[in-house]
Amino acid sequence: MDYQTPQFFHVMQYADDADGDIIDMVSGNPDWEPPAAIREGLHEYADSDADEFQYPPSDGLQSLREEIAARRNVDPDRVIVTNGTSEANYLGMARALDGDCGDGVVLIDPVYPYYTGKASMLGGDTRLVEANRDGGLDTEATCEAIDDDTAVIVLNTPNNPTGAVYDLNAVEAVVETAADHNAIVVVDEVYDHFDFSGDFESALMLDADNVIITSGVSKSMAITGFRIGYAVVPPALVAAAKTRHMLVNVTTSRPAQQAVYEAYRETDPDYYADARDRLESRIESVTAALDAAGADYTKPDGAFYVLARFDDFPGTMANVKTLIDEAGVAGMPGATFGSAREEWIRFALVTPRVEAAAERLIDYFAD
Ligand SMILES: Cc1ncc(COP(=O)(O)O)c(C=O)c1O
Repeated sequence: MDYQTPQFFHVMQYADDADGDIIDMVSGNPDWEPPAAIREGLHEYADSDADEFQYPPSDGLQSLREEIAARRNVDPDRVIVTNGTSEANYLGMARALDGDCGDGVVLIDPVYPYYTGKASMLGGDTRLVEANRDGGLDTEATCEAIDDDTAVIVLNTPNNPTGAVYDLNAVEAVVETAADHNAIVVVDEVYDHFDFSGDFESALMLDADNVIITSGVSKSMAITGFRIGYAVVPPALVAAAKTRHMLVNVTTSRPAQQAVYEAYRETDPDYYADARDRLESRIESVTAALDAAGADYTKPDGAFYVLARFDDFPGTMANVKTLIDEAGVAGMPGATFGSAREEWIRFALVTPRVEAAAERLIDYFAD
């Protein structure tokens, strides 16, 4: 299998080992508190009867599946609680590549590197389609890349790393073309709570029988370590996906599911709105600094990353290391995300030190 450990870990390690104070803008771990109900739910769980410490149903606690289903307006039978959105993506891609179609996997460049890794692990043949300059879907090019050999197309909106929020009509065009070729579309919506544009619409609105929606609470509830996500799978595909989930995992952590269920029930919408406000103000700080540094950048409509391109300083691994050593700011090289943004560097905004990082970038590049 042709698979390399994501460069992400390499950069993190380099930043950890570097001298001096480095601001981490690599990782996608939210730096704010989870909803209070998460901690309360865990405390309560610790005191429950021992039989509550045993296997939950394989596809997830009934209460949690019903809660997710009600929020997504789907039948609970279609919901599988997974080990993060990551497992949900794997289930969707594996199901598609198991089918009677070919082994083609269409991905959008820049691409979240775990999709390419999964495609390769599953024996898929990846075709990368470049996104528009603003990160939006190039509908025509994406549809043209889909043929009878295509098993699956993976889309991600709001998008990591571009911050684009896809237009639902563009997603629909891809879904319809995929249906013509008997292909499945996996739509990863893990950043669905981080939509600053107000334009995000879930692909569930399309009500298509070849679409698998994946999402989770790693980002929205600031609990990447809990590993709770879910897939919403069309009725004809759900049994096979549940079987695979059972054979690979048996089930998903019960205390985490219980605490997430409590948090869904107890958390006020203000919690999510506060996180969005915090991120929007960080976006303002960083983009103002990038303006001052004379850099090109994409202002995200969603998710929590900014892509930047500096004059005469392409986003290579070597330059990213130089930036760590000389400016004390760690970002991700654009080449990690395919070839479309090789010149760029991605900065994650999930650190309380965004303003300090912004100052450092100005000092470094404005000199
Ligand atoms: C696009 C995308 N999908 C999935 C994940 C992982 O989500 P989870 O922690 O729910 O597995 C990430 C994490 O950075 C991501 O950026």
